[in-house]
Amino acid sequence: GLVLAGFILAACGKKADAPAPAAEPASAAASVAAAPPPPPAKVYVVGTDAAYAPFESQNDKGEIVGFDIDVVSAIAQKGGFEVKFINTPWEGIFNTLTQGDRDLVVSAVTITEERKQTMDFSTPYFDAYQLIAVKTNSKVTKFSDLKKLKVGVQNGTTGDEVVTKLQGKSSANIKRFESTPLALKELEAGGVDAVVADNGVIVNYVANNSNNQFKTVTDKEFAPEQYGIAFKKGNTELVEKFSKGLADIKADGTYDSIYKKYFGEAPAAAAAAP
Ligand code: ARG
Repeated sequence: GLVLAGFILAACGKKADAPAPAAEPASAAASVAAAPPPPPAKVYVVGTDAAYAPFESQNDKGEIVGFDIDVVSAIAQKGGFEVKFINTPWEGIFNTLTQGDRDLVVSAVTITEERKQTMDFSTPYFDAYQLIAVKTNSKVTKFSDLKKLKVGVQNGTTGDEVVTKLQGKSSANIKRFESTPLALKELEAGGVDAVVADNGVIVNYVANNSNNQFKTVTDKEFAPEQYGIAFKKGNTELVEKFSKGLADIKADGTYDSIYKKYFGEAPAAAAAAP
C-alpha cells in the first residue's frame, strides 16, 4: 500500500513540475466532447388552411400535402432551414402572424392592396382568377347572372369579395362557408345556385368529386390574381429570405417540376416571369 501510494505521489509530483505536454491532447479531446452541439436549424412555423386541394389538403394519413407545401418545402431545403406546417382555419389565419403563432402563411393567399396594409407578401408565386361552379343544367353563362342567385363562397376570400361587390353588402343571397369544399357540398345539395372560388380549386373539385354534376363558367370581368406567401408586417428579413428562395427554385427548375406535378404542364411564360 505504502509503496504504491509513494509511487503515485512521486508520479504526480513529477507531472505537475513538467510543462505537462501529455495533458494537452487530453484536454483538447475533452473540449471537443464538451463543445455545444451546433445550433439546431431554425424551424419556421407555417400556417395553411389545408382544405384547398390541390394547393393544400390532408391526405389519408393526415399529412398536409399540395402545391403550396411543395413550394415552401423546396425553398426551405434550398435555403438550409426547416419548416413545419400547421393546419390553420382560414378564419383568423392572418391573426396568427400578428400574434407570432405562425412565421408565415402559405394558403393560396391572393395578394391584395387591402391585405398589404396589414401584412407583407413574398414575390408572387402563382397566377389565379375566380371561376364559377354551377350544376351542369344551370343557365348561368356569365358572372352578372349571379346578381340575384344564391351563391356560396368561402368567408373572407377574394371570391367572397367579388360576389359581395356584385350583390351588395346587405345581400341575403350570399352564403359564406368556413371552407371552399363546404360551399361546393352545398352546391351539390342544391342549397346554393353557384360557388365562386379560385380556378385551381374549382377545377380540381369538379374533376374529382361530382360525377359530372358540375360545370365551370369563366368571365373576363374577374381580375387576375396572384398568390404570395404572407408574413407579419415588417418582417422584412423573412420576406426577403422566401422571395430569394422562390427565385432560386424558379432558376434551378424545381418550381417548374412542382408545377407540372400538380397541373400537368409548365406554367405559362407570364406565370414564370416574376
Ligand atoms: N385566393 C383566395 C384568397 O386569397 C382564397 C384562398 C383560400 N385559401 C385556402 N387555403 N382556403 O382569398
